[in-house]
Amino acid sequence: MKFLDEINRRRTFGIVSHPDAGKTTLTEKLLLFGGAIQEAGAVKSNKIKKGATSDFMEIERQRGISVATSVLGFEYRENKINILDTPGHKDFAEDTFRTLTAVDSVIVVVDVAKGVEEQTEKLVKVCRMRNIPMIVFINKLDREGKDAFELLDEIEQKLELKVTPLSFPIGMGYDFKGIYNIYEKNINLFTGDPRKDIEDTIEINDLATPELDQLIGDISAETLREEIDLVEGVYPEFDIDAYKNGKLQPVFFGSALNNFGVRELLDCFVDIAPSPRSKMSDTREVNPTEDKFTGFVFKIHANMDPRHRDRLAFVKVVSGQFERNKPYLHVRLDKSLKFSSPNAFFAEKKQVVDKMYPGDIVGLHDTGNFKIGDTLTEGEPLMYKGIPSFSPEHFRYINNADPMKAKQLNKGISQLMDEGVAQLFTLDLNNRKIIGTVGALQYEVIQYRLEHEYGAKCSYENVNVHKACWVDENNANQEELKEFKRVKAKYLARDKQNQLVFLADSAFSLQMTQSKYPSLKFYFTSEF
Ligand code: G4P
Repeated sequence: MKFLDEINRRRTFGIVSHPDAGKTTLTEKLLLFGGAIQEAGAVKSNKIKKGATSDFMEIERQRGISVATSVLGFEYRENKINILDTPGHKDFAEDTFRTLTAVDSVIVVVDVAKGVEEQTEKLVKVCRMRNIPMIVFINKLDREGKDAFELLDEIEQKLELKVTPLSFPIGMGYDFKGIYNIYEKNINLFTGDPRKDIEDTIEINDLATPELDQLIGDISAETLREEIDLVEGVYPEFDIDAYKNGKLQPVFFGSALNNFGVRELLDCFVDIAPSPRSKMSDTREVNPTEDKFTGFVFKIHANMDPRHRDRLAFVKVVSGQFERNKPYLHVRLDKSLKFSSPNAFFAEKKQVVDKMYPGDIVGLHDTGNFKIGDTLTEGEPLMYKGIPSFSPEHFRYINNADPMKAKQLNKGISQLMDEGVAQLFTLDLNNRKIIGTVGALQYEVIQYRLEHEYGAKCSYENVNVHKACWVDENNANQEELKEFKRVKAKYLARDKQNQLVFLADSAFSLQMTQSKYPSLKFYFTSEF
């Protein structure tokens, strides 16, 4: 197959949702359609189970599973589809934000009864800011839920999207009769049988046909006609360019658990979802069709076996072809590296491959060379941007609890930070180290992994930090910056990139500082 065809047939995407909306179930049904798995239940849920005895054990369990579900690749209708795992749990939000830098589009899953939930709002906001094309799937139509129009309104308002339904439910819950597919102009009747196949789809080119009344009953038929009239009057016609530019979001309805409406979603997805897109680097925009390979690390996963301290770095191929045993430039280290066993990911396994194309994810064994955001090229010194760190939610001092193991502790902390488990801030004043995390559970994970993987012991101590703000030193009035550094010396730290960070102890002090030093710019993300 030609290089261009290989690019065009690839669809690399993520499914985002609040926990429990049905992401795992939907993923599994998509894999079933692709023939990548044979039975339901094959994809283990990677979420933190409610009421588990120890949340920490759950995180470790999750870590094990998430290697397997990080990238799920399969073939469907001549397309190569890669689903990138985007955990919905808020403690893994950073992981998800980073993965979103590697997707070309997303599917947003919304629970019909719960509507738009908190994590969905946060994740969709990130996608919106990056103009990532989104398709919305409203799930669990077999249950009683909100009225379809009310939900579409809620999605427009809370998620700030411009939607247009491409399918529409006929009834809901107990009274759920099926789905009218506006995109394909047919009706899919709901039988509640998850093994239902495409043969059950009935073509309806004109809703006025009396056949509709026979199929779903007079009352439902009349309601559907009115609703579709309303849909056509209120919502814009689907426009593929608007969708691809992130300006219009098609909506589908269905029930993942019953495998209902999923085939329609997948068929439309492969038709309209973008193949790999070009990406901005610090020097220029790189097009996937360029013949020279470039790619970037968006995720690092430590080996679960403490005896082998190697890690798997996940690289998204942006342009050209990645080839086994070919030397590539690790731009940050200015070092040439060769990979003898790069992995490709399939639904149930990973496998060493010789060649990978734009849109693909390559798994590289790493002994400590990589950190998140690193770029590989064939020699051009460009770096991909757009993997910022966000101000963490929790902060604690980390202390060495075994003075004989200081070296191991530092190495362990450094590597865990490269993996993106947490963020490290070193105080200017006394070099004390502060660990910032998104979720409180990460502290236990760090402590456990330092001990088991690096043989080091640590303890924590509370520190009163409200927010970490990155300070732009270059574009500030230098007199004011000097004064700020003198007065706030106690609160200043450096992140791993040696950027200046102000650790504000309260919202009030942050506000006061901002107004006292108006030329200084404070940012809540590390990239500005
Ligand atoms: P998540 O990955 O987004 O967290 O959600 P997941 O797929 O695990 O689904 C959450 C719960 O919702 C599961 O039930 C799942 O069976 C159910 N579910 C998913 N899709 C549908 C649907 O279309 N209709 C209905 N009625 N339920 C659906 P659970 O009881 O929490 O877990 P399990 O014991 O079934 O695994």
